[in-house]
Amino acid sequence: MRVGVLTGGGDCPGLNAVIRSVVRKGAQEYDWVFAGFKDGWRGVLQNRTVPLDVPAVRGILPRGGTILGSSRTNPLKTEDGLDRVRRTLADNKVDALVVIGGEDTLGVAAALAEQGIRVVGVPKTIDNDVAGTDYTFGFDTAVNIATEAVDRLHTTAESHMRTLVVEVMGRHSGWIALHAGVAGGANAILIPEIEFDLDQVCAWAESRFRINYAPIVVVAEGATPKAGQMVLKDESVDEFGHVRLSGIGEWLARQIAARTGHSARTTVLGHVQRGGTPSAYDRWLATRFGLHAAAAVHDGDFGVMTALRGTRIVRVPLAEATATTKKVDPALYQEFGVFFG
Ligand code: F6P
Repeated sequence: MRVGVLTGGGDCPGLNAVIRSVVRKGAQEYDWVFAGFKDGWRGVLQNRTVPLDVPAVRGILPRGGTILGSSRTNPLKTEDGLDRVRRTLADNKVDALVVIGGEDTLGVAAALAEQGIRVVGVPKTIDNDVAGTDYTFGFDTAVNIATEAVDRLHTTAESHMRTLVVEVMGRHSGWIALHAGVAGGANAILIPEIEFDLDQVCAWAESRFRINYAPIVVVAEGATPKAGQMVLKDESVDEFGHVRLSGIGEWLARQIAARTGHSARTTVLGHVQRGGTPSAYDRWLATRFGLHAAAAVHDGDFGVMTALRGTRIVRVPLAEATATTKKVDPALYQEFGVFFG
């Protein structure tokens, strides 16, 4: 059997661990050979492959990024996209495809599965917003990076008695902001799921200053003020129609400084959250996802995605997992209200 593997969307720590795991199980237990598609769906459209075998995956477990490359190409938005995908798979004699991606890449996989293409998905994203799974790999690493940043920002904020705003990734969901904000002891956490009240944020900042502490505000890039417009630097969109965000942190710092009379600064963590070596937990989760994806292909169980439920890895239909994104429940957010201000 010949199995294709691709990684699509924004990269995240742990992609290489999945690739290694699929290849090791597939080659050693099932005697498969592989085709690695370059740069996600773009490589499938352009029929670009790289050799993928056990020697090719040696040493990649702790490496960030993806040895296959990635892109945000959407084949369904490309002329003849579906035919070109079919042609490439036939040309390379690929019997099944393991697709490692987030909501967009897996959304394409779900659509292809409906067309009879034999795919198994693996959920990745630092944002942790893929539905159907408790966690995605990459998230734990990003939270650790953001938490370390928050820890560091506390001491410099206090030296200058100023507000420090930390902007983290998360366009539609505030998982990174919530976890890193709670772990780092932030005084305000602002997430896309709940519009924030600027007066309230400033009141929290002022209450910190009153007791001689400097406020730390963790804001997800997709968070928006009440009855306000999204604050964007750049309004261009990618092939999946997502705007490129960034700007809310700077806007917030300016507002807080003007209203509290204390200076404020912003740190935008950006792609630092996606780079570098995966945490031990992400290596563990990515490895398990890879093993279970290979088992699903072996069982002929296509159109599914591996998912974590509690401590078990299960298979969920791709169509179900990609129908919605996983949001932070407001009740979960409210649990931490006691720490704000
Ligand atoms: O989807 C993952 C993500 O990390 C988002 O949180 C962020 O908005 C986006 O990728 C950034 O994408 P790009 O690398 O294309 O700028």
